[in-house]
Amino acid sequence: TAPAMSSLAAVREGYERFDPRAYLQNNYVPPRADFSSEDCVVPWKLRCLAETFASGEIRGRTLIDVGSGPTIYQLLSACDHFEEIVATDYLAVNREELQRWARGEPGTFDWSPFIQHVCKIEGRG
Ligand SMILES: C[S@@+](CC[C@H](N)C(=O)[O-])C[C@H]1O[C@@H](n2cnc3c(N)ncnc32)[C@H](O)[C@@H]1O
Repeated sequence: TAPAMSSLAAVREGYERFDPRAYLQNNYVPPRADFSSEDCVVPWKLRCLAETFASGEIRGRTLIDVGSGPTIYQLLSACDHFEEIVATDYLAVNREELQRWARGEPGTFDWSPFIQHVCKIEGRG
């Protein structure tokens, strides 16, 4: 129908303007990523993920993360439970952002505070 088509076009248009760096800056630096406070959204998400994967209820050979965006924090607690993890995203800009990070290119987002926090809540050194 016409309204469905126009809302689809609006979604497509919104996605075409998506800026991974702005998304990371808005959502994955303080105040949202304040590791000194457990009430803060990012440490809360990391704890939920750590508890979920530690429960052993989600396991298998391959984990497919649908809609990874430009982020990897959601996969940190999954690493020990899967042989292979596939990150996916609809947008090329997000896939490219992750590819740049995986290649260790300079100027990519620094996930090390997230990795350190996950090590801490999982009781690792
Ligand atoms: C809310 S973002 C989540 C990003 C990231 N995982 C995070 O936690 O911040 C959802 C992502 O899903 C992607 N997406 C939407 N529909 C999709 C689809 N059908 N297949 C793959 N990715 C999709 C979008 O491009 C967007 O990056």
